[in-house]
Amino acid sequence: MYKPAHFLKAKKIWTMGRFVDWPKAVVHSMSHALHYGNSVFEGIRAYPTAEGPAVFRLTEHIDRLLLSARTAKMKSPYDRERIIEAVLKTMRANKLQSAYIRPLLFYSYGNLGLVPKFSPVELLIGAWEWGAYLGDKTEKGVSAYIVPWRRIHRSQLDMRAKLGGLYTLSTINGLEAREHDCDEALFLNLEGRVAEGPGENIFIVKKGVLQTNALPESILEGITRTSLLEIAADRGIPTRVAPIRLKDLYRADEAFFCGTAVEIAPLVRVVDGSNPRKTAKPHTIGSGEKGEVTRFLWASSRTPSAASCPNTGNG
Ligand SMILES: Cc1ncc(COP(=O)(O)O)c(C=O)c1O
Repeated sequence: MYKPAHFLKAKKIWTMGRFVDWPKAVVHSMSHALHYGNSVFEGIRAYPTAEGPAVFRLTEHIDRLLLSARTAKMKSPYDRERIIEAVLKTMRANKLQSAYIRPLLFYSYGNLGLVPKFSPVELLIGAWEWGAYLGDKTEKGVSAYIVPWRRIHRSQLDMRAKLGGLYTLSTINGLEAREHDCDEALFLNLEGRVAEGPGENIFIVKKGVLQTNALPESILEGITRTSLLEIAADRGIPTRVAPIRLKDLYRADEAFFCGTAVEIAPLVRVVDGSNPRKTAKPHTIGSGEKGEVTRFLWASSRTPSAASCPNTGNG
């Protein structure tokens, strides 16, 4: 059931060039995207800074939104600059200091044949205040359930795209993880190596080296992932981009999930449910607590540089 607390401080949704009051922002029930998941979207965060709220890596997110649209063979009704401007306007209209921002391009109402010949593409942008995606446990560390279903493979789709329909797999497996009393799911790829979470990339730390897996491991090219690799290199932490085997994860000194929604969530316990014919096996990662490198990166990522964050003009 919807509660205003799930969308804190949300007042107006930008819809095709105009603002609509939050409770009145509805679409037709025969909209194409509702039936077939034909949408592409972004998750973006804005943070308060000394010069007012600032959107983190906005251009990169909008570029990915448009790449997702191309992957979905969807023609965006707005170009990059207009979408960037609309995001900033949405921040201002909602008077937000910090926010989770959700632009969505979708095939709307027109026809229900699988080819959306008569369903126009529409853009909407919502923004609200959203705290820790995985809840209060994020601070101390979360658990992940390695699900039996494998991550969709890079041979099936351009994995750089965020397509709405793909996220049914994230929902199913996120629910599966919670049925096993874990906080989040973790996917293996078709090769049996660690891929990513339903909405997060993964890092491990071993002997001071920060490692994440590469794009051919069937993962989304996370903007947080890229940013953390840059921050680590800037701060003198050795980095490695290489496949992560299950034994690498189990033997890691630290591990964490990262992504726009989750930000950085220490991963302290993993339950291996990847083989449904075997009893799921729990593993503690490192000391079972948030590690030093995770702590350091978390603190470093709290000081966004003005260059990566266009100011919204709300301050
Ligand atoms: C499947 C998946 N992997 C990783 C990420 C992290 O990406 P980003 O850091 O760009 O939010 C996300 C979130 O968008 C995601 O949905």
